Amino acid sequence: MNTTQLTVQAVTPGPDPSIVDLTLAPVPWKPKPGQFVMLRPANFGQELTWGRPFSIYRCDEAGLRVVFQVIGRGTERLAALRPGDAVTVWGPLGRGFSTKPETPTLFLAGGIGLAAFGLFAEDPFRLPQAQLLFGHRLPLTAYPIYHEMAQRIPSEAMRQTSGADIEAFSEELSRRIKALGPQGLVLCCGPTPMLRAVARLCLEHGVPGQVSLENRMGCGVGACLGCVATTASGERVQTCVHGPVFDVRALTWD
Ligand SMILES: Cc1cc2nc3c(=O)[nH]c(=O)nc-3n(C[C@H](O)[C@H](O)[C@H](O)COP(=O)(O)OP(=O)(O)OC[C@H]3O[C@@H](n4cnc5c(N)ncnc54)[C@H](O)[C@@H]3O)c2cc1C
Ligand code: FES
Repeated sequence: MNTTQLTVQAVTPGPDPSIVDLTLAPVPWKPKPGQFVMLRPANFGQELTWGRPFSIYRCDEAGLRVVFQVIGRGTERLAALRPGDAVTVWGPLGRGFSTKPETPTLFLAGGIGLAAFGLFAEDPFRLPQAQLLFGHRLPLTAYPIYHEMAQRIPSEAMRQTSGADIEAFSEELSRRIKALGPQGLVLCCGPTPMLRAVARLCLEHGVPGQVSLENRMGCGVGACLGCVATTASGERVQTCVHGPVFDVRALTWD
């Protein structure tokens, strides 16, 4: 784990201003898909003690890109950053996804959880048999990263604005996971109810699955115990160091 001071290159609100695209540079490391960073702008001052965790959407010569949804104090302050501002970055953190090129792999993304799959789109040849199914509540145009990824990975999006839409999406998840079978692999990042549904479907149909948990985090390095998850054997583990990606069989889903 490194602690690095990076400089804001660009901070761009999307077509829906609640979704913000932030680029920081220069980046001295190469992350794995599913890893994350903790970001703490210098101008948080003493007011906000902790950094905030975000998936690494892209990481290349242009810099480290994270794409986030503004939901509270920390993300509001991140959205107010300007080019040239300094940000302390802890990372790359956690255990990412474990994949094999020959395995048919289904990415299941819910809302801004889509950002967790960005590094796979950077090199689609790494997983030639990958497909993406994206469930979202905002209009699809709110997520420019979907269109970026869809150019590189076969992708389909389903919007949910009603109970009937949610039911249709659940049925599609079930159909796709069942069709994938035990030789495939499901990777999921999204809201907790979606993770739970996907984990149950993987277990029911005997399909290998990995989920990325978005528990609240304080330190990101195993020290504050703010992010614990319960394993299938009843052990309490820190999501930031044992995850955020877990095999669906490793966790309890009650
Ligand atoms: C490994 C990891 C990767 C993540 N990647 C991304 C990403 O790429 N893009 C993105 O937009 N978000 C991502 N998140 C979620 C993001 O970290 C939170 O939205 C952010 O920390 C909220 O900070 P805040 O100060 O704005 O909200 P706060 O003011 O702390 O909270 C505002 C509201 O949001 C709720 N909340 C806060 N954190 C979370 C959370 N982690 N999950 C669910 N509800 C929460 C609070 O309970 C409260 O109701 C990720 C989280 C983790 C753990
Ligand atoms: S965030 Fe502090 S232990 Fe995980």
